[in-house]
Amino acid sequence: MALYIGLMSGTSLDGVDGVLMDIDAHGAIRLRGHHHQPLLASLRDELGALNSPGRDEIARAAKAAHDLAHAYGSVVNALLHKCSVFAREVRAIGAHGQTVRHQPGSGYTVQLLNAAKLAETVGIDVVHDLRSRDIAAGGQGAPLAPGFHTAVFSSPIEARAVLNLGGIANLTRLAPGRPVIGFDCGPANTLLDGWCLRHRGLPFDVDGAWGAGGQVLDGPLAAMLAEPYFAAAPPKSTGRDLFHAGWLDALVPGDAAPVDVQATLAALTVESIARDLERHAGDTRVLFACGGGARNGHLMRKLAARLPAVRVTTTDELGVPVDQVEAAAFGWLAYCFVERRPGNLPEVTGARGPRVLGALVPA
Ligand SMILES: Nc1ncnc2c1ncn2[C@@H]1O[C@H](COP(=O)(O)OP(=O)(O)OP(=O)(O)O)[C@@H](O)[C@H]1O
Ligand SMILES: [Mg+2]
Repeated sequence: MALYIGLMSGTSLDGVDGVLMDIDAHGAIRLRGHHHQPLLASLRDELGALNSPGRDEIARAAKAAHDLAHAYGSVVNALLHKCSVFAREVRAIGAHGQTVRHQPGSGYTVQLLNAAKLAETVGIDVVHDLRSRDIAAGGQGAPLAPGFHTAVFSSPIEARAVLNLGGIANLTRLAPGRPVIGFDCGPANTLLDGWCLRHRGLPFDVDGAWGAGGQVLDGPLAAMLAEPYFAAAPPKSTGRDLFHAGWLDALVPGDAAPVDVQATLAALTVESIARDLERHAGDTRVLFACGGGARNGHLMRKLAARLPAVRVTTTDELGVPVDQVEAAAFGWLAYCFVERRPGNLPEVTGARGPRVLGALVPA
């Protein structure tokens, strides 16, 4: 048995999730604790700004990577304290960092994190830069969670799908005896959050309640769904590079009521996911949602109504709380690295083959 920590800060820029887990000699995983820490507003804004080309990017990115390592370090220390575990007992950390560019077609993806600073702060081996090797092997570098989903959520008898509702939505189909399918569907929360911040001054629409009061705008919804990304065949992955405020502004009439746009964005998330499920995972009996969007009651109800043949629930039911799945996936990827096992699923990412993912900064 060995202890691992996974650290994740996703496209929503809401904060850092840390999960402590143990993994035994057979690969069985047990979650031991979770800690979430919101990003300081100044760091959140800077990381958001670094998603677009700007002045003095290199120095600003280095500074943000340093500050993020500080935040990651405090999550690790809080987690160790909560779980009464010493740093020397932890075999390795899998640290995602913050994606500021994702261009697998051009051969790169950039996750900011000063991993040396994190290793120096916490005294634990840090495995980072977990996406680049898959891209070097011709893959998308994403999604990486399907390997973990396969390890913990597969059923020998039932066709399941796992749906992560982070900033971006990603779907994993787990059907007995069939290859795993996994890809990014499109925006889950990122556009909803941005619109809510702009019009209500709040980082997200709690429970989707504001948007639930609006009318879906059919014309703009159809225009949004015409985005070629949605129809493209997997392997595919996306992020803020495509789905940003400018994309939305170009498709929404200037005189639309903000609440109606929020309702339309929720409908976009639901409809794009439902179409993907029908097209790529039509045999799915149960859909297990995770990520912060699983706490959005409006989104979850709309998804269940749109998919009457599928039981829509959350990973809580399988013993992994919705806000721990992504961080745990990166702890599992650290385990894969330590064991020199591949972390990617080539059938998902499109890589030429299985690869050991990540780079190590020793404690
Ligand atoms: N109670 C809630 N009601 C509505 N939305 C919520 C609620 N709680 C969380 N969310 C949404 O979930 C988001 C955070 O989810 P999460 O941390 O899974 O995303 P992320 O950081 O982008 O993750 P990743 O990219 O790793 O999947 C918030 O920005 C918000 O949109
Ligand atoms: Mg998050």
